[in-house]
Amino acid sequence: MTMNQPAQRPFRHRHLLGIRELDAADIIQVIDLADTFMAINERAIKKVPTLRGRTVLNLFFENSTRTRVSFELAAKRMSADAVNISGGGSSRSKGETILDTVRNLQAMNPDVIVVRHSSSGAPEMLSRRIDAAIVNAGDGTHEHPTQALLDCATIRRHKGDPTSVDNCLRGLEVAIVGDIDHSRVARSNVLALCKLGARVRLCAPATMMPFGIEHIGGDETRERVTVHHRLETALEGADVIMMLRIQNERLSGPSLFANNREYSRYFGLSTRTVSYAKPDAIIMHPGPINRGVEMMPEVADGDRSVILDQVTYGVAIRMAVLYLLGAAHGTGPEA
Ligand code: CP
Repeated sequence: MTMNQPAQRPFRHRHLLGIRELDAADIIQVIDLADTFMAINERAIKKVPTLRGRTVLNLFFENSTRTRVSFELAAKRMSADAVNISGGGSSRSKGETILDTVRNLQAMNPDVIVVRHSSSGAPEMLSRRIDAAIVNAGDGTHEHPTQALLDCATIRRHKGDPTSVDNCLRGLEVAIVGDIDHSRVARSNVLALCKLGARVRLCAPATMMPFGIEHIGGDETRERVTVHHRLETALEGADVIMMLRIQNERLSGPSLFANNREYSRYFGLSTRTVSYAKPDAIIMHPGPINRGVEMMPEVADGDRSVILDQVTYGVAIRMAVLYLLGAAHGTGPEA
């Protein structure tokens, strides 16, 4: 596809609420399109008129660096008007409900509203009451679909099967390690990776592993996901290692582990523990990293780390998502 042509296949979805609603072909459609936007992002002039005249509202009720900035850049690089609103800077702090806030924003006729919220299901609730396309930029412990899409794109680029269309991660063993219980990134990735043919090993202390997580996607995940409580076992022969941060902001009540030092000893990725994976395994992290806790700096910054590639892909994936949803709300993308 060139930027002078609309996508070959219309996107089947009005909103992007989670990976659960997507099939493998939908995921590949976004990733393929993102690959064309990657080329634009490498140019000296990183701007196309694709979404000229469209309006994107970025509504972040939780802190964010990567997701917020990449959605803003994505909108601006496609010439959409982008407006950023944070929870603290909005009338939410005066007691307005999220639905009232979004209804008022809807009255200004945006095409796409990107929402991050601490409550699981907030974007889905808004999608049933609002005309604009809603994009889930992370909701509670539920889903973070654009993170999983950029993670799959990064894995496909480094490890994927170029001869396969929708089963492009077939045969890959992906270890996801850390606070699985509180991780929307883990949930979206389990769903996406299994749809693309990978096998997933989830690894955490028992206190951070939700019971029955392997059933999250029915038969598709039950057959492909295994649960581990020893890092060495989870990493044995893995092609991809995805480390997760402990989500301290979602923890209440007693601590889930003795202290950072003990957590790091048993579940931290170091030059010693990384050696259990394949010698060419890639190392990922959605960020932000707690250096010295879940990952040692020499691993985060080492040759096998693709963490900054993930961030680069993040802009292109969000351009693809805004294109597919934003274009559908008007008369079509302009070249
Ligand atoms: N990966 C991710 O969601 O990072 P931010 O919280 O910085 O957006």
